[in-house]
Amino acid sequence: MPPNPFRTRPRSQNNWVIDTVAQKIIIDTDPGIDDALAILFALAHPDLELIGLTTVYGNVPVSLATDNALRLVELADVDVPVAAGAAKPLCISPRGHADFVHGADGFGNSNLPASARQAVAPHAAQFIVEQIRAAPDAVTLVPVGPLTNIALALQLAPDICEKTRVVLMGGAVHEPGNCSPVAEANIWQDPHAAEAVFAANWHVTMVGLDATHKVTLDQGFFTGLAERSPRLGGFLNQIHQFYLDFYATRYGDRVCAAHDALAVAAVLRPDLLTFESGAIQVAVDGIAEGQTLFAKPGQFDHKAEWQGRPEHRAALNADCEGVKALLQDALSTLD
Ligand code: BDR
Ligand code: CA
Repeated sequence: MPPNPFRTRPRSQNNWVIDTVAQKIIIDTDPGIDDALAILFALAHPDLELIGLTTVYGNVPVSLATDNALRLVELADVDVPVAAGAAKPLCISPRGHADFVHGADGFGNSNLPASARQAVAPHAAQFIVEQIRAAPDAVTLVPVGPLTNIALALQLAPDICEKTRVVLMGGAVHEPGNCSPVAEANIWQDPHAAEAVFAANWHVTMVGLDATHKVTLDQGFFTGLAERSPRLGGFLNQIHQFYLDFYATRYGDRVCAAHDALAVAAVLRPDLLTFESGAIQVAVDGIAEGQTLFAKPGQFDHKAEWQGRPEHRAALNADCEGVKALLQDALSTLD
């Protein structure tokens, strides 16, 4: 078995060092307003090569997630394949969609015209496997929705662990959840899939609410984007109006979290986040369903349920101004 290239590189406590020259990434997504920001950010940054978008139910049904992903690649005028994926969780009944957060169309009721483009034929899980196997070097998976497609890809081809690392948006260590007192939305939507992803022997970086709640964007941020990049920045400003209104109603301040974009930022600039290493498990039923449980290395090795769990890392904090500057610089290059 060839060594996982990401595992042969040095790691320090807070910064898992990797090369950042045009890393190949696949974003698995449920667009979604903050998903759109993450995708355009990834497309805009020269150190990333977005080799595919795979779609999943979550913020919207998977058919709409796919249409929205196609709208985004058409808007950005890039030739990035889109593969449609799971319509429902692995084991539990579907939870419903977050139209009160993202609008009925997933883009803040902006009613963007349909794209003429089509999704590619393979299911998202198959697409992920094919892309990883075909890539000469390692691929970074950036899931920013429920983890169903990633778990299905692992079922199809467990060997992908050898060539892949995962930097996902989801979960929480100390921060309360946003779907229950302990569960974050992407994990809560499919806890069994999330548990499969954290149980697998690859390196997962969990960018959860502890970090994403630190990176907040206000109207001034989006006004600036629209001024510097009238078409695509203007689109992001337009769709974020609904998202900002949701945050104002729910939390009191008209500022929103850059959840999904922070996962992309963690690929590019891990030095802008702080991490703690440890094993992660997901509660798959009961009142804590969807909770991510974090154990420091060795801490609970005397307990059977923690023995042999792979070591991952969880983001616990982020440099808000540093991430905003990273986003602004990249997005300002768009038209
Ligand atoms: C996550 O849930 C979705 O609503 C967002 O797009 C993000 O991926 C935040 O909990
Ligand atoms: Ca998302």
